[in-house]
Amino acid sequence: MRIGILTGGGDCPGLNAVIRAVVRSAYLHGDEIIGFRDGWGGVVDGNCSELTIDHVAGILPRGGTILGTSRRSALEHRGIVAERFTEHRLDGLIAIGGNGTLYAANEFARELPIVGVPKTIDNDLSGTDRTFGFDTAVQIATEAIDRLHTTAESHYRNLIVEVMGRNAGWIALHAGLAGGADVILVPERPFSLDDVAARVLKRRSRGRGFSIIVVAEGAMPADGELVTKGRLDPLGRPLLGGIGHWLESHLEERTGAETRAVVLGHVQRGGTPTAYDRVLASRYGQKAHLAVRDHQFGTMAALRGSTIELVPLEDATSHLNVIPDAELDLAEAFLG
Ligand code: F6P
Repeated sequence: MRIGILTGGGDCPGLNAVIRAVVRSAYLHGDEIIGFRDGWGGVVDGNCSELTIDHVAGILPRGGTILGTSRRSALEHRGIVAERFTEHRLDGLIAIGGNGTLYAANEFARELPIVGVPKTIDNDLSGTDRTFGFDTAVQIATEAIDRLHTTAESHYRNLIVEVMGRNAGWIALHAGLAGGADVILVPERPFSLDDVAARVLKRRSRGRGFSIIVVAEGAMPADGELVTKGRLDPLGRPLLGGIGHWLESHLEERTGAETRAVVLGHVQRGGTPTAYDRVLASRYGQKAHLAVRDHQFGTMAALRGSTIELVPLEDATSHLNVIPDAELDLAEAFLG
């Protein structure tokens, strides 16, 4: 078989592990893999080349993606995408991506043989228990919180850590819990500045002279607006970032304590994946390749419990996987 592969959307630790797994599984079965550059953009432009077992040697621990990525949409080029399948004699295509990439994959899958793999550090895709890349982002954010703890304590400061998470606060919640944060702010639950200040002051009254506040970039004050960079991304969504510094001045004013913000940004997406993400990504890649061999198109490799299964591709983007209310309530026991 001849099978295409692409990586789309924001890069994510573990992308290369998926590519490697697909190529190795294909090698075992005598299939050819065609790698498209820069997500759906490479399909539209016909920018591709064969990926052999030699091309994927040594890439397992590497961050980023050897195929490059972009948020370019191909939905307005349906005809061209179909032509590429004929031109390159593709029996199937594996699309590795998050919401944008898999939404397009599902649209194309109505007519073309496509299988998806769920990728995003935000862990906000539905249809799977976990996306790869999330574990690495949480690990990086937790290490940062650990480091900030000691300096916050020494200087009696409030330190705010802004992490990624556009619509879902999974990174903030897990890194916040793992790092012993005092306040965790997520997009799912708009916050009150008075409440955050009260929590910090209450802690200080107990003799704890510092606080760690973890905030997801998509978190917003209940009576305010989303803090953005004032620009749009290629998909027309506001570029997020800045809520940490917004909080910095307001919290300092309300608590009278020195407050500083740290924005982790793309550090969370770069570098080597954790062992967990390498294994999860490899299992996804193998499953996706075998799904193409079995003509199980219009599906996505998904983690269900501890097994990798195939679910309908449309399940990935049918709704956002946000933190359930009950889970946020339970986290309260560990805050402050
Ligand atoms: O991939 C999702 C994400 O991590 C979001 O949390 C964030 O808003 C976005 O990527 C930022 O990506 P970029 O800087 O590439 O636009």
